[in-house]
Amino acid sequence: MEDKQRDELTQHISAQAKEFSRRLAAADQSRLTAAARTIVDGLHTLVAELQPTGEEFRLVIDFLTEVGHYADARRQEWVLFVDVLGVSSLIEDQNSPRPVGATPNTVAGPFYRADAPEMPLGANISRDAKGEPLEVSGRIVALDGAGIGGAIVEVWHANAEGLYENQEPDRQPEFNLRGRFRADPQGRFHFLTVKPKGYALPSDGPVGQLMSTLGLGLERPAHIHFRVSAEGFETLTTHIFDQLDPAIGRDAIFGVKPELLAEFRALPLNGKKRQHALELDLVLCPQQPNETGMSGKETTDGS
Ligand code: BEZ
Ligand code: FE
Repeated sequence: MEDKQRDELTQHISAQAKEFSRRLAAADQSRLTAAARTIVDGLHTLVAELQPTGEEFRLVIDFLTEVGHYADARRQEWVLFVDVLGVSSLIEDQNSPRPVGATPNTVAGPFYRADAPEMPLGANISRDAKGEPLEVSGRIVALDGAGIGGAIVEVWHANAEGLYENQEPDRQPEFNLRGRFRADPQGRFHFLTVKPKGYALPSDGPVGQLMSTLGLGLERPAHIHFRVSAEGFETLTTHIFDQLDPAIGRDAIFGVKPELLAEFRALPLNGKKRQHALELDLVLCPQQPNETGMSGKETTDGS
């Protein structure tokens, strides 16, 4: 940023923030120093605007300390915090923009597993047969509608109670509701599963408490996650939502976009269980020149 531009932006920033910036002038002018300046300017601007009391400031520190206490290898309250603020979703949008017509990229979330087994097209990924059967079929296509033969389609979703296999390893078979498929030469894929239920993010920690105090929910509407990779195309990580889910307008992590809504169509009753069908196209865009291989970028949640 030009000095003049900075001066205009920082004219109502505190003397402390200006001095912080002045001190940084002696440091290497790296991306880190630039970020430190912007963050400190932002913090000082909001302190000037909110004028917190000492007690309020202490409550903020207590909250952040508590978030840290809930973060370990199994539970990541910091990620949950940035998720519910919409920050993870924004970072994903910024880092993985997609042209009009391509399926939007979204966060992978904490339940992705890279080691799901490859299965033949048409296989059933429900390993406990619990829930209402759902047949998913679709095509992996390029922006011009041409099928992308051999694309790898990874899929994972919550069960009919809204829980992922790795959330309850003692109750669900390993790799339940997960699979990896290879699209046919025309880019088509299909598999059987059960209809997922929406779920709520953890409410037992400080982030849940904050959301409840603010009168905000933690719901995620029912969805199926996909990760699609193909040589020469940007890897797509996305989820497809049940457009009729009552929580569709209040996804706690801001992942819902119009292009990601789909009908989980109820089929005429045949036997005891209600059956459903979902048809979808996932549209990939060409790989950007500075990227390599089929690996795709790192996602916000490190998956
Ligand atoms: C998920 O859909 O699995 C998810 C994504 C982000 C945060 C929490 C869960
Ligand atoms: Fe999910």
